[in-house]
Amino acid sequence: MASLRKSKSILITSTKGGVGKSIFTLNLAGIFSTIEKKVLIIDLDLTSGIIAMALNKPYNKSIYEMSEDIKNNVFDEFENYVLKYNNYIDCIACPKDPRDASKIDLRYVDMIINQAYFKYDVILIDTNHNLSPINLFLMDKIDEILFVVNNDPLNLKSNRSLISILNNIGINNYHVLLNNSNNPYKDYFSMYDIKNILQANVDYTLSNTFYIENIDKLIMAGDIVTLSNDIARIYNKDYTSLMNIAMDLTNQGSDIDGKK
Ligand SMILES: Nc1ncnc2c1ncn2[C@@H]1O[C@H](COP(=O)(O)OP(=O)(O)OP(=O)(O)O)[C@@H](O)[C@H]1O
Ligand SMILES: [Mg+2]
Repeated sequence: MASLRKSKSILITSTKGGVGKSIFTLNLAGIFSTIEKKVLIIDLDLTSGIIAMALNKPYNKSIYEMSEDIKNNVFDEFENYVLKYNNYIDCIACPKDPRDASKIDLRYVDMIINQAYFKYDVILIDTNHNLSPINLFLMDKIDEILFVVNNDPLNLKSNRSLISILNNIGINNYHVLLNNSNNPYKDYFSMYDIKNILQANVDYTLSNTFYIENIDKLIMAGDIVTLSNDIARIYNKDYTSLMNIAMDLTNQGSDIDGKK
């Protein structure tokens, strides 16, 4: 069976909130859609996920209903629990009621991800920054972990702690993305400083020129930045970096500039 698995799974996480994980997840999904890869976004920011909202997709079934239906033996087709954004991007939403988050049994999340492995080219999992049981489970389960960090002392220091824990327990399937795009004026530390604080490499960077001024308008319209008109031309350098991240994390190889 293992040979039939076609997905690569990527966990987008951080040790601080508000570093741009969810917008980055959507942008990466947009990149995969552009290169005609089927991508599933699973919103496992269970108490405050925004993916379905940002895609402007109303829904009745979330990961909570999905796991309840598996538990009660009334689960039907996987597709009936998935929101379709376009021909390539699907999404499983987080629970509408945050109180349902704690009722979700990780065994069913595990089963859902295992099923998705056979249906999609890429699975992107958006999380929150808590070291909760679900996030620890995901760090073990998922092929690639992407830590999103900002140029911010507290953010970098908290990431250093987690990265050193991961190193100690032998988890090394992680990459670090320095996201300068949502905080364009934060530039106190040089790249040398940042690597020094993290005690880790910075694998990818999104620059402050990728700060999207009208992002709120795009979000309200349910638009994904990387699928908007002319984006590759206007934000050439960062679009190339995003393309490179997509290729690199799915081991498709790329010599495109943008990787640090
Ligand atoms: N490239 C960008 N340009 C402009 N604003 C951005 C960009 N990326 C993210 N933002 C804004 O930064 C804020 C935080 O982004 P986002 O919600 O993606 O962070 P997060 O890490 O997922 O947060 P949380 O930890 O709360 O889930 C949002 O208001 C978002 O609109
Ligand atoms: Mg988020």
